Amino acid sequence: MPGLLERYRPYLPVTPQTPLLSLSEGSTPLIHAPRLSEHLGVELHLKYEGLNPTGSFKDRGMVVAVAKAAEAGADTVICASTGNTSAAAAAYASRAGLRCIVLIPDGNIALGKLAQAVAYGAQIVAVRGNFDEALHLVREISEQRPIALVNSVNPHRLQGQKTAAFELVDELGAAPDILALPVGNAGNISAYWMGFREYLSAGQMETLPRMWGFQASGAAPLARGLDRVEQPETLATAIRIGAPASAHLARAAVQESGGLFDHVSDDEIMAAYHLVAREGVFCEPASAAPVAGLLKLHAEGRLSPGQRVVAVLTGNGLKDPGSAMRAVQAPAAVDATMNAVLASLA
Ligand code: F0G
Repeated sequence: MPGLLERYRPYLPVTPQTPLLSLSEGSTPLIHAPRLSEHLGVELHLKYEGLNPTGSFKDRGMVVAVAKAAEAGADTVICASTGNTSAAAAAYASRAGLRCIVLIPDGNIALGKLAQAVAYGAQIVAVRGNFDEALHLVREISEQRPIALVNSVNPHRLQGQKTAAFELVDELGAAPDILALPVGNAGNISAYWMGFREYLSAGQMETLPRMWGFQASGAAPLARGLDRVEQPETLATAIRIGAPASAHLARAAVQESGGLFDHVSDDEIMAAYHLVAREGVFCEPASAAPVAGLLKLHAEGRLSPGQRVVAVLTGNGLKDPGSAMRAVQAPAAVDATMNAVLASLA
């Protein structure tokens, strides 16, 4: 498959001067989840964004943002990140020959994501503060220095991320009834909504889905109707965000689509994370939030049977092995004999 700049070129801000940057991002699988579907009484599909080149949906937006930064003559890009954005920025900047600076909240990003940014050669600054503070800093730095900001407040990011909505419609032949996804800085839900509306205008689909955004209970300003949460807290560190930069767009997406925001506890997120893994799909904790949300709404009798639902699994579980291992006992070692192995299985 070609990368997104080629695949969806007519829908993207690609000019003859835009470098056709690509790591073959996008074209991720849509995987039916039979057991969860049966439990929920709906037709549930998982959009497995963890199979993007750096393991998250961020690659979709980053390929456009970095290509446009290169086109504009930038030599450095910068972002704040809970981990996935920094991995994507570092990879695409490296590929395009640009310098990359990332600010991360010290102690609150999954090890795999940090390893990626290191390996791709980014300059990493761990800030004693949370994501919201780091984002504030990079916005200021990009205003004062000739450095391109590649957080999702950069409109090129949402342009790229909207392609996931196109892929869903291309594959299903129509929009789902409901799109459920995790919400952190609120860029992705806004991008999907933009993508669905554009595809509707282009005559590629006939009905719009309802947008269901799920936040972690300890970091849920949108679901609680607040402007911000001062001290966001959740083990789903990817969405540990108290002041979503695209809150206004996300609220509009939910309102216009007749959707909803809700929040799920860390325990609910981890229960859903294990159920998704039992379908054979490994996602990171934040990505399990929409499945946790569907389970919660089902238990409350708010999920109508028979609907077609897509949950977006935004990131790969391999990025955060710590979360998987925390929940279980590490396997005990036994002697390398048949008896010992069979005895341990009894
Ligand atoms: N899921 C994952 C795995 C994420 O990494 C993020 C955001 C989200 C969901 C939420 O998406 O911010 O568009 O509402 N991660 C950003 C980062 C903040 O820095 O990697 P959103």
